Amino acid sequence: MSLLSVRDLKVRFETRRSTIYAVNGISFDLEPGDTLGIVGESGCGKSVASLGMLGILPKTARIEGRVMFDDRDLVQLSDSQLRSVRGKDIAMIFQDPMTSLNPVLKIGRQLTESLRKHLGMDKAAAREEAVRLLDQVGIPDASERFSDYPHQFSGGMRQRVMIAMALSCNPKLVLADEITTALDVTIQAQILELLRELARDSNTAFILITHDLGIVARMTQRVHVMYAGQIVEKASTADLFANPRMPYTWGLLGSIPRLDAVRQQRLVPIEGLPPDLVSPPSGCRFQPRCRYRRDICREQEPPLARPVQTEEDHEARCWGTQNVPNGGWLIGIDWRRGSAGPDLSGAVVREVSAVSRSDGDVSPAAPASD
Ligand SMILES: Nc1ncnc2c1ncn2[C@@H]1O[C@H](COP(=O)(O)OP(=O)(O)OP(=O)(O)O)[C@@H](O)[C@H]1O
Ligand code: SF4
Ligand SMILES: [Mg+2]
Repeated sequence: MSLLSVRDLKVRFETRRSTIYAVNGISFDLEPGDTLGIVGESGCGKSVASLGMLGILPKTARIEGRVMFDDRDLVQLSDSQLRSVRGKDIAMIFQDPMTSLNPVLKIGRQLTESLRKHLGMDKAAAREEAVRLLDQVGIPDASERFSDYPHQFSGGMRQRVMIAMALSCNPKLVLADEITTALDVTIQAQILELLRELARDSNTAFILITHDLGIVARMTQRVHVMYAGQIVEKASTADLFANPRMPYTWGLLGSIPRLDAVRQQRLVPIEGLPPDLVSPPSGCRFQPRCRYRRDICREQEPPLARPVQTEEDHEARCWGTQNVPNGGWLIGIDWRRGSAGPDLSGAVVREVSAVSRSDGDVSPAAPASD
């Protein structure tokens, strides 16, 4: 049985004037120790899908589907049951640490409270463990900094404290939403390295939500590409970068600056805007922006299915990749030549291969079964 099994998760927001269909039928499985990246443009539903799984959404949200975690369906749990799962077995780290740290409580107190509540430690043991955790996440002079308030820490240190808090109860799953976006590159690298060590050493599963495909390449075994509230491509990280199958993913890969070329090379944005989630386009949701579209794309919604010529656990939502009547026109196409952007894929593939060779972290994971 999987650690996390999500089936047909849907989230909509009912406002006075309209209904926003933010997440539209997401399914995937996660095993202990798996690292999954979720990528996609702003507004595609990455955060709402993750927050929806954990029941952290405003009252206007309507959630459907199943989110099985350790034999329990999180969608059916009460608020207080969910709070206890979140504090202990599932930890969430947000982009802005100040949303999770209490500004008027000392760092040490915030850590020890969580340890005492969830692990039943006495005061002395909790203090000892809290100092050990701060030390583990690289806070210098941890026993002295224990009595500081959050505002006395730098942004990078607060992010580390958040990670220490998230890990204090040995969670089975950590959900990290854009946690390094606001940090400078050196701190970002240190925090990512820390997470990677933890995933390796404690078999904690990670879901990393990010705009940054470089982070996905370095940190995750599998990737889900999201567009307009749906997963449009899912694969092992190595296979997604080496063999991306649908035009939206080509657009995302085409928008990364070349890693081995001129520093200031401009990003190549995907033309057009993401769709209105109140009334999404008919057929394929990407069709208004897709330069490869055909009639079938406007008429019928493509299923998420295994494209021709890919690994078994690779799926994409595109008629052009599927061997069906009126489909299949993108099979065998070289996206590097066909895409609007410059040839950027080689650099990414080289980077992924280098990471795979250096530490073996980027390797195909267990197949996702829907
Ligand atoms: N509380 C809310 N009420 C109404 N609509 C919402 C609410 N929260 C999010 N949405 C809408 O749901 C959609 C998905 O938002 P979400 O925050 O998941 O995007 P995202 O992929 O995380 O983007 P970003 O990369 O900018 O964080 C967006 O269209 C957003 O406007
Ligand atoms: S289904 Fe059609 S419109 Fe959608 S991504 Fe594929 S080719 Fe483009
Ligand atoms: Mg978000």
